[in-house]
Formats: sequence, structure tokens, C-alpha cells
Amino acid sequence: MKAPRMRRVAPAALALVVAAAALSLRAQSGVQTAVDAAYAKYKTLQEGKNADYIPVLAKVDRNLFGIAVITRDGKVYSAGDTSTQVSIQSISKVFTMARVIQDQGPESIEKRIGVDATGMKFNSIVAVEFAEKVLGGPEINPLVNPGAITATSMVQGATSDEVWAKIIGTYNDFAGRPLSVLDDVYKSESATNQRNQAIGMLMYAYEFIKDNPAQATDLYTRQCSVGVNVKDLAAMAATLAFGGRNPITGKQAISAENVPYVLAVMATAGLYDDSGKWLYHTGLPAKSGVGGGIIAVSPGNFGIAVVSPPLDDAGNSVRAQRAIRDISTALNGNPYAVRELRPVATSGRN
Ligand code: DON
Repeated sequence: MKAPRMRRVAPAALALVVAAAALSLRAQSGVQTAVDAAYAKYKTLQEGKNADYIPVLAKVDRNLFGIAVITRDGKVYSAGDTSTQVSIQSISKVFTMARVIQDQGPESIEKRIGVDATGMKFNSIVAVEFAEKVLGGPEINPLVNPGAITATSMVQGATSDEVWAKIIGTYNDFAGRPLSVLDDVYKSESATNQRNQAIGMLMYAYEFIKDNPAQATDLYTRQCSVGVNVKDLAAMAATLAFGGRNPITGKQAISAENVPYVLAVMATAGLYDDSGKWLYHTGLPAKSGVGGGIIAVSPGNFGIAVVSPPLDDAGNSVRAQRAIRDISTALNGNPYAVRELRPVATSGRN
């Protein structure tokens, strides 16, 4: 009796395995095709301008262009320059916020800083004054400079080195390798960051920062100077896409229940005063940096990053925005787009 049944089941099982492999291969080649197409389309685009208010950033090669997508299985799909490091800049703000949420709970950020878009530039002082004087409370967010410097001040440690070890340790877990500070960027920004020093002091004066605003601004400057390549950034995005677990190393960087809070602030404020426009067109939680990187997250699907230094007026990389938008459209990445309609579960009564 046993042998004939085996003969009938085995070919069916084999057929299933072959079909699944074919589907997965098709999906894989679809990702690479989308990445290659976006790279070819935008490689020669010359719009935008490198940031120059941090002098060293003006010297970065404006033609640098790299794309990376990482899927659930940890596979990396890439095009262009995947090894040159740029400074992470404001993308760091996501991961310091993640650390504070992980250590002190989501309400810590909401109560101290706020989780609302300011609609103003990333280093706006008016936004702080408006929140304080008109709105009367913590009505900014951890992804603009005043909120980010405050979030950095909230990472706990007896010394500056101890706080830094927590910050860089968190970034390393997300990226899946040890990262380090680009010294030339740190020096250049430290010498020219008087506005951020003023913001740190203002946040201290208004008691958002409880202690040592100079240390908070310095550590914030250091975190912005961390060097990353496009694959590091994609791994950081993919870790957020898959419940806080780095899909390459398997390490849990933050707990799954905290990820939605991080993604919500990225959706609200990740591309500064253009966050609404970005979300309208992509539906993707994302974060940009003036070093030219943008990360975006399609929850459960993929993490994507693009590096290209020339920025638009809002401070967001021109080629990165376009490439991510195209690739996500090709891969059905928009989480608000319904892929299939499932019947709503009923109580069984009607
Ligand atoms: O504080 C600054 O001005 C920079 N370290 C970071 C700004 C930034 O990346 C804004 N991004 N779009």
C-alpha cells in the first residue's frame, strides 16, 4: 500500500517545489530588473546641488550613485556604487529615536519631543518657538534637528563615551557591521554647527533637554558623521521592514512591537517639509540625509536605500527620491495599496 502512494505524492510535491522556486526566481529577477532600470534612467540626471553648509559635503563627488534593495531572505539587489561611504547625516536620527523608544518606551518620545510634522525646515528655530509659544507643548518630532538633539540627550549613560557606545552599537546592529565616524565630516560640521549649538541651548532653555546641551549637540554631530555605504543603509531599512530583525545577520536590533512607532514618525516627518508629498506618491516611511542618502521601508516586503549627493531645496536627494519611487512602484511597495481583497471575518452570526 505504501509504495504506490509515495509514487503519487512525490511528483505532486516536486511540482510544487519547482513552481515555488520558479516564482521566487521570477520575483528575484523582478527586483534586479527594477533596480537596474532605475539606475539606467537616473544615472545621467544632473538636477540638484550638494549640501555646502557643512563645507566638506560640497567636495563629495556629485556623480556618486548607488542603489540597494534587501528582501526578507537577506538577498541584496544593487546597482552602481555600493562601496563608497557617505556620512549618514539625518538618517541617523531614525536609529537614535529607535534606541530611545526601545529603552524608554514609545511614550517617552511622544511626551518629551512630540511626533508631529512641523512643516518647516529641518533646522528651523521658528518651529520650536511656534510649538512652545503657540501650540504650548511638545509638538515637534525626533527627525528635525531640535527633536533629534533632544533624542540624543535622552540616551542614557554616565559619560559621553557610554552614551556614544549605545548610539553606535545600535547603528551597528541595524547595519550588520561595525560602523565608524568619518573624521573629516565630524571636524567640518563641528567647526560650522553654531546653529545646532544654539538649537541645543534653546531646547535646554525650554527644558526639553534636561542636562548638558553641549554634549547632546556634540554627540548628535558625531552620529551625523558616521560613514555608511548604500548597502549599510539598505540593511538598516530592511531591519525596520522585517520587525526589527536584520535579515542578513539575524540579529534583533529593536523589538518588533516598537518598529511601528519608528515607521510612523518616518512617514510623518522623514523628508522634512516635503514629507506629505513623498507619502502621497509612495506611501513609504522614509528618511533622508544631507549626505545624499535616503532609506525607505516597505513593511514586510523590502528595505531600500539610494545614495546620490545632489539635493533639492528641501534637502532631499533628487535621484534617490526618483529611483525609490520607481522601484517601489515596480515592486508594489506602497503599503496603502490593496493587493488582494480578503473577506472580513464575521462573528458567524450573520
Ligand atoms: O544637523 C545637520 O544640519 C546635519 N548634521 C544633518 C541635516 C540633515 O541631514 C538634514 N537632511 N535632510
